[in-house]
Amino acid sequence: MVKDPIDKLLDDATTGKSLFKNREVLHFTYMPDVVLHRDEEQKKVTQSLIPLLKRARPSNLLIYGKPGTGKTLVVKKVLNKIQERVKDGSFPIQLLYANAKEETTLYGLLVKFGRQLGLTTQKELPTTGLSISEVFNRLMDAIEKNNLNTVFVVDEIDYLAELVSKTGKDVFYSLTRANERLKKGSLTLIGISNDLTFKERLDPRVLSSLSEEEIVFTNYTVNQIKEILVERIKEAFIPNVLDPAALNLCAAMSGQEHGDARRAIDLLRVAGEIAEREQSESIKEDHIRRASLKMEEDKETTALNSYPLHEKLLILAVMKANGNTTGEIYQSYKNLCKTTRQKELTQRRITQMLSEIEMTGLISGKIIHQGMHGRTKKFALTLNPETVKKAFREDLALEDLL
Ligand SMILES: Nc1ncnc2c1ncn2[C@@H]1O[C@H](COP(=O)(O)OP(=O)(O)O)[C@@H](O)[C@H]1O
Ligand SMILES: [Mg+2]
Repeated sequence: MVKDPIDKLLDDATTGKSLFKNREVLHFTYMPDVVLHRDEEQKKVTQSLIPLLKRARPSNLLIYGKPGTGKTLVVKKVLNKIQERVKDGSFPIQLLYANAKEETTLYGLLVKFGRQLGLTTQKELPTTGLSISEVFNRLMDAIEKNNLNTVFVVDEIDYLAELVSKTGKDVFYSLTRANERLKKGSLTLIGISNDLTFKERLDPRVLSSLSEEEIVFTNYTVNQIKEILVERIKEAFIPNVLDPAALNLCAAMSGQEHGDARRAIDLLRVAGEIAEREQSESIKEDHIRRASLKMEEDKETTALNSYPLHEKLLILAVMKANGNTTGEIYQSYKNLCKTTRQKELTQRRITQMLSEIEMTGLISGKIIHQGMHGRTKKFALTLNPETVKKAFREDLALEDLL
């Protein structure tokens, strides 16, 4: 008798062996006990914060390096250790952390810091409605009132778009110089950036006062990634689950390109899930390869789904007129608008949109010289068309096209 497919899955899940001992260990927020190959960086961050324990103000600090090089981990670890030492209240120290990827406006970010400073009610600090300088003043008052030595960590600071706008830049500058205003207590700012070109985009005044000190995190080598993985594997999986060749491949795939420990750990988690679903006894090279493909596809699907309707129509138009000129793609786009009863945008806007999508890498453009007729650009999809169709099937407005 053929087993009911639902029963089979449920049976496997309950009787089948799990490869994982503790899945949490592979989540990006997990703090490992051992931080390998980052001794210098841990020392430098600690060193720069030591004045706190002498009731003095540390310098502002800018930390940067590629994603997955351990910046967040090292900073959080140092903050935890300092906080641990002063938890008896012997020093009035407050270490505040916020990620600008989650709070993309300066207002939101300051409110997040304010909450940690004890301004917990809407009355003390409303989520909207105040001027940004008023929010700033309230934070300063809270610091002065309690005579606090504070550190504000802004992680992934490159996501703070306002840093390049006029008012944003001014408020941020005041934040970097807040100390000069405080009659009591102090404020040190730590900015962490994944984007190495971030410095070039910053206003020179802001840059010079944010980067009183600087620490650069270099990429991990393939071998370092491998050692980091070995530590994590001991905690995450039951013994001897990982084929040595799979470990090497995982380290090589994440190490060679950018030395990214996060990608290596994600790859391991996804490969483990694939292997477990197949009831495989171990994680093999092939599971790592498939995990990598799946992660790539998931990333593309997320990117595709986040586009507004006309961008999606345009991507479909490129797919249908693959390798064709802007004019031909525009024609194809207009046809799609007709089928879906959408009002078409102008060719000028569409041409601009093509360049925007090209920048994300989902389509690629090639300039073609046509002798005396000048030049034109031809566009092609860089993804598998099936991935595009699968992603867009979730959009009801595109139903008739797929
Ligand atoms: N030296 C290390 N030892 C152990 N785990 C590490 C190390 N460096 C990074 N990781 C792990 O890799 C992932 C990415 O690190 P993270 O600090 O978030 O990188 P970044 O902030 O530079 O993007 C996290 O899961 C972290 O625990
Ligand atoms: Mg980080």
